[in-house]
Amino acid sequence: MSFPTRRLRRLRVSEKMRELARQTTVTPKDLICPVFVQEDLKTRVKVKSMTEIERLPLEDVNDEVGAISDLGIPAIMLFGIPSQKDASGTSAFDKNGIVQKAISQIRGSFDDRIVIMADVCLCQFTSTGHCGIIHGNKIDNDASLNTLTKIAVSQAKAGVDTVSPSAMMDGQVAAIRKALDDEGFVDVSIMSHSAKHRSNFYSPFRDAAECAPKFGDRKTYQVPYTNDRESMMEVESDISEGADIVMIKPALSYLDLIAKTRREFNIPVAAYSVSGEYALVKAASQLGLVDERGVTEEILHSIKRAGADMIVTYFAKSASSAFLQES
Ligand code: PBG
Repeated sequence: MSFPTRRLRRLRVSEKMRELARQTTVTPKDLICPVFVQEDLKTRVKVKSMTEIERLPLEDVNDEVGAISDLGIPAIMLFGIPSQKDASGTSAFDKNGIVQKAISQIRGSFDDRIVIMADVCLCQFTSTGHCGIIHGNKIDNDASLNTLTKIAVSQAKAGVDTVSPSAMMDGQVAAIRKALDDEGFVDVSIMSHSAKHRSNFYSPFRDAAECAPKFGDRKTYQVPYTNDRESMMEVESDISEGADIVMIKPALSYLDLIAKTRREFNIPVAAYSVSGEYALVKAASQLGLVDERGVTEEILHSIKRAGADMIVTYFAKSASSAFLQES
């Protein structure tokens, strides 16, 4: 009788042996929790397409951040939904805008006990729902840069730690870095949505943040999911423009790009597990087709194993309470 030449099952014989051999661990410290805050809202509103996700009134934001922080999650990613939208997205850089108010309120109560990250984009704030300024029938890249820098500086003035540009305009990281530095905000970091793909997985978010484009699509600015070299060029340019953290978005269908970015660059890599990824798991588990907790843990570990140092995920709270129950 011939024996197998290698017995890989030896490392799996017991729980303790499996623990010892375990390579990848996800903890709440790896996670960034999205927070939606809406102007002029009286009570929390459930997001239809994203079970358990809510838009918050400003008054509830500190409670929410407290709950997130108590779970051991080190960072939040703020998204604002303003009452007023216009063609140039002015409410995005208003010093009394909803995001700016939320940032200063959180900073006032939590000081350095949570990393405050904020999305820098225009689509929630423009009447067009596009991520840039429209001139004629085109998104004007360079005019949009000017507005994006104003948003970043206004958030820095409110006390943000990290700005996270997601508009996919060329040169946005360099423009924002320069504007922040010129205003003395040299310690405000940039986590760039570097390779943000033109994805079908964003639709639940557009319901959450009211930012669906009113006409056309985002194909002229977001990266086609067919072109991994182009995604890597985006990462490369953002690093050369001064990004502190680069992000791959979405996560689950883009694990190859997370792994490639990890291998090729020495910079922290974030992955954004987007709304559609969340909705798929929620829908399937509500139908009783998969075990939500098991699938979520597997997805988060896969993203970490691929090379992500941090994960923006709508499962941040639920996964963290599950991990905490275990320990
Ligand atoms: C807007 C923005 C989007 C997401 C984050 N910022 C949507 C889009 O580009 O249409 C998607 C996040 C998600 O789906 O969870 N710039």
